Amino acid sequence: MRAVKISPSILSADFARLGEEVRAVDAAGADYIHIDVMDGHFVPNITIGPAVVKALRPHSAKIFDVHLMISPVDAYVADFAKAGADIITVHPEAGPHLHRTIQLIKSLGKKAGVALNPATPVDAIQHVLEEVDLVLVMTVNPGFGGQSFIMSQLPKIRDLRARIDALGKAIDLEIDGGINTETARLAIEAGADVLVAGTATFTGGPDHYAANIRALR
Ligand code: DX5
Ligand code: ZN
Repeated sequence: MRAVKISPSILSADFARLGEEVRAVDAAGADYIHIDVMDGHFVPNITIGPAVVKALRPHSAKIFDVHLMISPVDAYVADFAKAGADIITVHPEAGPHLHRTIQLIKSLGKKAGVALNPATPVDAIQHVLEEVDLVLVMTVNPGFGGQSFIMSQLPKIRDLRARIDALGKAIDLEIDGGINTETARLAIEAGADVLVAGTATFTGGPDHYAANIRALR
């Protein structure tokens, strides 16, 4: 089976001890650190802003995989870049000109990602596919951790795998939402490179993180 990267979503971490939690998943073998940014407008939840990303930066040298679920997004991209994001991922619905937003992220020296909600078709991002470093497929409705994987997204993952392979470029195909050992297998078989895992990583507390991450791989 394909080797995959694991990106623990700190949405499921203990928010009172976020720095320690980031250090713990780093030590447990995380490849990326997934940071879910929500504004209570684009999605029905409010999480963290650039100040928290900046505060976490000294706790890990791993790639900060920052998933922006905020709209309009453009005004905040530079703040997250400055705070220490390595990959900045946006949704096509979060602004009027997706291509411009991607160029903005790249102009700040960061890797650019684009995220598809379950209802958003792959064709919505075809015009930027060659420009991005990562495509994120949401396998839950964005907003909360701990939801169930939406099986209807598997053909979308396969479609994207084929389009990325046809381009022959190093573009991560990241799956986000409802990942556990069973759905991880399905996502990997469909062509995933990177698995976001909140609940599945943080279940059981710090002593279990390494085993949880290993089980997903
Ligand atoms: C949902 C977020 C996810 C979430 C995943 O809007 O984008 O990253 O934290 O959580 P789990 O792995 O628990 O489904
Ligand atoms: Zn996410």
